Amino acid sequence: VGTGPLAGRRVLVTAGPTFEAIDPVRGLTNRSSGKMGYAIARAAAEAGADVLLVSGPTCLATPAGVRRIDVESAAEMREAVLGALPADVLVAVAAVADYRVDAAAAQKIKKGDGGLTLKLVANPDILAEVAARPDAPFCVGFAAETERLAEHAEAKRLKKRLPLLVGNLAQDTLGQDSAELVLFDDRGTHPLPRADKLTQARALIAHLSHHLH
Ligand code: C5P
Repeated sequence: VGTGPLAGRRVLVTAGPTFEAIDPVRGLTNRSSGKMGYAIARAAAEAGADVLLVSGPTCLATPAGVRRIDVESAAEMREAVLGALPADVLVAVAAVADYRVDAAAAQKIKKGDGGLTLKLVANPDILAEVAARPDAPFCVGFAAETERLAEHAEAKRLKKRLPLLVGNLAQDTLGQDSAELVLFDDRGTHPLPRADKLTQARALIAHLSHHLH
C-alpha cells in the first residue's frame, strides 16, 4: 500500500483509441495517441492508487506501477472496465469509437469498381453506463471538442451525470505532448493553462483527490 492522496484507492483509466474491425485487414478508429490517459495513470500511481489502465492500441510504454489490459474494440473495452469494478475512480480518457460495423466481414472485402456502403451501429457508452450504476465510482469524463468547448463540455457532463469533466480543444491537443485543459464540476470551471500532459495529469489527480476527501 502506497502513500499519497490516493493511497488505498482503486483507479481505472481508459486510454487510447478503440479499433472497430471492418474485415480482417481494415477498421475504423479515432485519433488518439493515448498520451493523456497514460500520463493520468502514471499520476494516479504516483498518488498512491492501485491503477488499472484499460488501453486501446497505442505505441506507449506502461507507466511504472500500473497494471494494463490491452483491448481493441469498444465492446472489449467495456468488458474489461465492467470486469474491473468495483473501483473508487474511473477516468475515461479513451477516444471510444461511437460506431462499429454492424457485421464485420470474416474475409477481406474485395475491391469492386463502385463504392462500398458499410452499415454502422452505435457502440455502448462505457462511461455513461458505469456512471449510472448504483455502485458507480467517482467518474471523470473527457470531452474533446472542436468549438464552443464550455457549452458542449458542460452539456456532456450533465447528460452523463459526471461529477467532473475535463474539456479540451481537439485541434490543440491531439497527438501533442502538451495540452490546455478546462475542468468542469459542480463548483464551476477551472482552467489549466497549457502545460505538458504529465503536469496536467498531476493537476487533475490533485483536483479529483479533493473531490474524494
Ligand atoms: O460523448 P463523448 O464521446 O464525447 O464523451 C466523451 C467521454 O465519454 C470520454 O470520457 C470517453 O472516454 C467516454 N466515452 C465512453 N464510451 C463511449 C464514448 C465515450 O466511455 N462509447
